[in-house]
Amino acid sequence: MLEPSTAVVTGAGRGIGLEIARQLAAAGHKVLLTDVDGDAAERAATEVGGGAWSATHDVRDPSGHREVAAQALAAGPLAVWVNNAGILLAGNSWSHSDAEIASILDVNGSNDQNLWMSLGEGA
Ligand SMILES: NC(=O)c1ccc[n+]([C@@H]2O[C@H](COP(=O)([O-])OP(=O)(O)OC[C@H]3O[C@@H](n4cnc5c(N)ncnc54)[C@H](O)[C@@H]3O)[C@@H](O)[C@H]2O)c1
Repeated sequence: MLEPSTAVVTGAGRGIGLEIARQLAAAGHKVLLTDVDGDAAERAATEVGGGAWSATHDVRDPSGHREVAAQALAAGPLAVWVNNAGILLAGNSWSHSDAEIASILDVNGSNDQNLWMSLGEGA
């Protein structure tokens, strides 16, 4: 029998990420749900079931990406990685503070960069 494939969803403690995780589990993947809010990720993994598990993971942290990639690769063939974690602020962009803009760029940009680095090292 084939080993079940794994899937990683970042920012999966709630919202769109949680729903993506649910659907990946329903499709037969073992899902690793990660979030900067580790308690939310843990609750979400329990809710998703099907062998899902969780990790506290800030996507701005390269070492966190490495750890998540290593866990996912150790659990089975890694089939899916969803870079869902991100910050979206409503309202006019010119009304956002400098700190808010820096945070958006930091989280949304480092998510992609750290993913490729981690998988490149782990492959
Ligand atoms: N909801 C929308 O209408 C919409 C539209 C376009 C794009 N998006 C994008 O889709 C994604 C999910 O949207 P959502 O509405 O479910 O958002 P949400 O704010 O409800 O959930 C985002 C999750 O990401 C986590 N997160 C935030 N910063 C993080 C970090 N540094 N590291 C790890 N996790 C972090 C949060 O804890 C939260 O659980 C986001 O990237 C968002 O920008 C959403």
